[in-house]
Amino acid sequence: MAIISVINGPNLNMLGTREPGIYGAQTLADIETTLRQLAQQHGHQLVFFQSNAEHELVTKVQQSRQDDIAFVLLNPAAFTHTSVALRDALLAVDMPFIELHLSNVHAREEFRQHSYFSDIAQGVICGFGPKSYELALLAAISLIEQTPRD
Ligand code: DQA
Repeated sequence: MAIISVINGPNLNMLGTREPGIYGAQTLADIETTLRQLAQQHGHQLVFFQSNAEHELVTKVQQSRQDDIAFVLLNPAAFTHTSVALRDALLAVDMPFIELHLSNVHAREEFRQHSYFSDIAQGVICGFGPKSYELALLAAISLIEQTPRD
């Protein structure tokens, strides 16, 4: 059993009503419920976190080793395009993670096409709406199950 942490950045608490044409109709709570079930079916545990504050996201990442987290699924939201601090936190704890987005950031405004995370992520999943989370979880589980624990 591994613990997988799902970390969500700013404005993702607004899912459901936030630009539904781009982000879909599901709330973050709906996504969390689906992911918990999926993790459980595969014998893993999920911890789920959202914050609008950069320092809270940085602190959550910093704590991930103490919290015995095996893998992070990260939707940095707008911090994708701005946050050196969050990038540095992931490097500081040397935590494997998948970067994910609901929308296809490459098909949107130019400023969304640069990410501070993609080059240090195990992989990037974007453009599948709430399914991006499920795909990222399945990818993380397959990576965890391939990697012998020390
Ligand atoms: C997002 C894409 C970001 O560009 C945006 O700032 C978000 C959500 C996504 O999931 O599609 O807040 O990360």
